[in-house]
Amino acid sequence: MTTATKSSSKPKIESKKLIVVDDTPIDQQIEHLIRTHKELNITRHRDANLKLKQGADHDGAKLLPEASRKRLEDGGIDLSKGYPEVPDRNDIPVFVDQAYAIRDYDVSFDDRAKHADPEKKALFGAAKEVINLTDKVGTEIVGLQLENLTDQQKDELALLVAERVVVFFRDQKLSPQAQWDLGDYFGNVEKHPQVPHVTGLPGATVIWNDYKIQKGLDLNYSNINMSNWDSVRHLPLGNNAWHSDLVHERQPAGYTHLHLDTIPETGGDTMWASGYAAYDKLSDNFKKFLDGKEAVYISAHSYLDRKDPLGGTKRVERIHPIIRTHPATGWKSLFVNRGMTKRIVGVSPIESDLILNFLFDIYEKNADIQVRFKWRNTKPGYGTSAIWDNRISTHRNVWDHEGKSPRHGTRVTSLAEKPYFDPESKSQREALGLPLKKWE
Ligand code: SIN
Repeated sequence: MTTATKSSSKPKIESKKLIVVDDTPIDQQIEHLIRTHKELNITRHRDANLKLKQGADHDGAKLLPEASRKRLEDGGIDLSKGYPEVPDRNDIPVFVDQAYAIRDYDVSFDDRAKHADPEKKALFGAAKEVINLTDKVGTEIVGLQLENLTDQQKDELALLVAERVVVFFRDQKLSPQAQWDLGDYFGNVEKHPQVPHVTGLPGATVIWNDYKIQKGLDLNYSNINMSNWDSVRHLPLGNNAWHSDLVHERQPAGYTHLHLDTIPETGGDTMWASGYAAYDKLSDNFKKFLDGKEAVYISAHSYLDRKDPLGGTKRVERIHPIIRTHPATGWKSLFVNRGMTKRIVGVSPIESDLILNFLFDIYEKNADIQVRFKWRNTKPGYGTSAIWDNRISTHRNVWDHEGKSPRHGTRVTSLAEKPYFDPESKSQREALGLPLKKWE
């Protein structure tokens, strides 16, 4: 048995809290301490200042912007319980093995885009307008309500997203439950083990930096973009680093649907970049070098290591192909993102850092493969939706409004297939017969 000892030169330890009481293995004692002491950080957000408690938050519910409150109440969310809701302290992983175990098995996935009419007649025929916002990425559909789409239209929407990377719908009356149901149609809805979700609806994650700032997140004009230079030393804050969702999963994210119901008058845009187009920025020889290579992808959150619980934190790591083939379009995409791609397998760490930084730059510096979406406010109770495909893109928020006016939304992410590389698959430009420079 070990006990905390008193020493005049050391800070006084509150033995009531930290005393080790029996021969129970140290990992179990640490887990018990963390789970039973609310003052200890359990959500392990990458910004240690962010203090989130378990359960639904009554203070959070009071902060809700009016338009969001209306949408949530219209959608049957009981805000009297509090808002948002953080999963129960007992269900949040403490150790990295617990985080691995959450979805460490194969789940069947049938991409609805594969069932779609390639001409998308049901979707386009019903829309008032279909507007391509840039040449390579981003399409806005006007005149349709997501809540009312038929299954045929949903399949065509999935294919449109798979081709155009991200698709937008403004002025939507959409309850969180309807958003969840659409995500469920598109794949396996991810229920995040620790991030706040809509009260009573795990899987509908809350996107609300204003709330996180209230809870201690240090997000400001000076630090928002630092992780876009160095994501190791400056951890990503408030979704302002280029990333794609949940790349550490055994079956990472496919379609994500973000619905904003409170939008700043000016700013708060979101940017996406196309992975198909990023791949096509590479020379033939460089494509050949990357085809078939794999990389290590890491989780955004970190956890303790059961074998060395006092030795710092660890992320979940999984290996996936760095160039992946999209199951519906059959096109190759560059599957990297600055925040969560750790290293390329089979090359030295120095080579890996150099190559990865170059590949991140391909996404981030080529403005012709990006779209920047202005959300634009709408009437109370309504909002705007963006649905994108994480398999073929990266994205980031632009927090230029600095929280001067509120921004709130809900996000549902559908997990897709285990990433694969088909050596027979083509790049987008190759498949479409578009010119590519041959470097002599
Ligand atoms: C996200 O990264 O999923 C959210 C982006 C945003 O809030 O604009």
